[in-house]
Amino acid sequence: MALAPDTAAVLPRHVAIIMDRNGRWARKRLLPREAGHVAGVSAVREVVRAATDIKLEYLTLFAFSSENWKRPKPEVNALMGLFRGYFRSDLDELHARGVRVRIIGSRERVASDIHRMIEEAESRTVSNTGLNLTFAFDYGGQEEIANAARELARAAKEGRLDPETITPELFATRLFTGGLPEPDLVVRTGGERRLSNFLLWQSSYAELLFVDTLWPDFGRKDLLAALENFAQRERQFGAISEAVA
Ligand code: FPP
Repeated sequence: MALAPDTAAVLPRHVAIIMDRNGRWARKRLLPREAGHVAGVSAVREVVRAATDIKLEYLTLFAFSSENWKRPKPEVNALMGLFRGYFRSDLDELHARGVRVRIIGSRERVASDIHRMIEEAESRTVSNTGLNLTFAFDYGGQEEIANAARELARAAKEGRLDPETITPELFATRLFTGGLPEPDLVVRTGGERRLSNFLLWQSSYAELLFVDTLWPDFGRKDLLAALENFAQRERQFGAISEAVA
């Protein structure tokens, strides 16, 4: 399945995905929740390959939220193990495909070996010019905004910053996503209609798409369908359309 020419002409620059309902996928099959996460990693692999094939510029995936630490320990451990395994098994392919990997999130609570893996993935792929693939890992949008505010407040208190110069653009540079464009399209799988603390600042003007497909079932054709859906929408960024003006 390829992109229709009309869709290719209005490809979003940045797609962000809330990968939800791995647990439901497993329960439907009478499998443990962890099996859903394993299947979720396969979906990540397929979607990343599709994104590089269609030359998407930015893809951001919500892999682990700062609230996910509250899950039962065995499930948290399983997710950490999958993250380790993914970077061990897929980094070579990502690099060969020209993918630049970034991880956004707090990093303070993650184990030191994962910390090292993240740094290795980021530094090894830093010069790649293909897909910019960002994993939100130990990520929370409110925490990210509070961190940025704290940093600016500290700079102002120490006399390094005039508070009057704080603009949305300056503020955005202090977020984990500083340097990345804002998402044009945020997709959530699994049927819930919430942002769940994902890219709260950055999604101000994003198109939102909620699909019922459970994340482990989401693949290339679902990504292409999301892009086709985006191509049908008229984005106005607070202005009015030319047809009405
Ligand atoms: C939501 O399903 C999904 C997650 C909490 C984690 C997403 C993780 C993956 C897709 C696999 C790990 C990714 C990488 C890159 C290694 P849920 O558990 O909330 O499902 P439920 O809502 O049905 O309980």
